[in-house]
Amino acid sequence: MNDSNIAIEVKELSKIFKSGLKGGEVQALSEVSLKVDKGDIFGLLGPNGAGKTTLVKVLLGALHATKGSASVYGLDVRNANSRNKAGFLPENHRFPDYMTGAQMLKVYGGMSGLSSGEIKARSKDLLEIVGMSKWRDMKIKKYSKGMKQRLGLAQALINDPEIIFLDEPTDGVDPVGRREIRDILKRLKEQGKTVFLNSHLLAEVEAVCDKVAILDKGKLIKTGPVSELTRVSSTYQIETIQLPIEAAEQIKTAFPHAKLLTDNKISITFEDPRQLNSLIDILRKLNVEITAAIPVKISLEDSFMQLLRGEVKHG
Ligand SMILES: Nc1ncnc2c1ncn2[C@@H]1O[C@H](COP(=O)(O)OP(=O)(O)OP(=O)(O)O)[C@@H](O)[C@H]1O
Ligand SMILES: [Mg+2]
Repeated sequence: MNDSNIAIEVKELSKIFKSGLKGGEVQALSEVSLKVDKGDIFGLLGPNGAGKTTLVKVLLGALHATKGSASVYGLDVRNANSRNKAGFLPENHRFPDYMTGAQMLKVYGGMSGLSSGEIKARSKDLLEIVGMSKWRDMKIKKYSKGMKQRLGLAQALINDPEIIFLDEPTDGVDPVGRREIRDILKRLKEQGKTVFLNSHLLAEVEAVCDKVAILDKGKLIKTGPVSELTRVSSTYQIETIQLPIEAAEQIKTAFPHAKLLTDNKISITFEDPRQLNSLIDILRKLNVEITAAIPVKISLEDSFMQLLRGEVKHG
């Protein structure tokens, strides 16, 4: 792939925090390498304390890596210009809640160096996009959590960034609000923006992200397309019109782990996917009519849990 298609590149990045007086250390990131393509919604997943926020802060130049390097849109993150194209919604943000939504955008727009004319026009559009126009003149302290997050998104988009970093954007937001935020992210993608999303909400990431990386205790344990992680497992559900006892017995002998679900359905996990053919041979020899052989999809959550428990190979 052409390098200009790369939005973020992280190379063997480590971050060690010196903590406390006793010279203790916390290795928040350990030799992390990853690439994010432009135009993708990329999800960084991991349990609490995995290092997700630390990585975003390094990418935004708010923290310096102990080792390794990172670039955003081709510029090293130690170069302040690397942030020109970035927008950021921090984790647990607190906006000045005596302000109204519109006032808050004005302040943030000013900090991004926009003129008051630009701020006015952008605020109007953005409040529209995030569905907050109605509440633009209401004080933030009266906003619900979902409204605050949507305003936060508008703030992250004020400088019309090419890449948007969102740290737990739907934390504490109800399902309707989460859906709205997801829709906004999809629209950003349609406009060709890159989104880097930190989350521990797996279903969310599964619904919206193109690619994911899974971080655990500072180490990247998996990176790839969501489709690869939720890909079919080697478990199949075989459905037949009727499964005679003889067929069930032969299957049990050949595949001791097979489970008889009903009198016409079997669930079976193969060690080698080609074994599906042997199973079909057994059934067809006994003239059993097969109506379906359905690969069972594993959810991102199952995949994630298996990876964290080390049940599947990391790669
Ligand atoms: N400023 C700091 N000083 C010392 N240790 C820190 C600091 N910031 C983070 N850590 C530690 O680094 C590790 C990673 O923290 P980080 O906040 O990046 O995790 P996270 O994946 O974002 O977690 P969460 O899901 O809870 O937001 C944790 O062990 C945390 O305690
Ligand atoms: Mg965090």
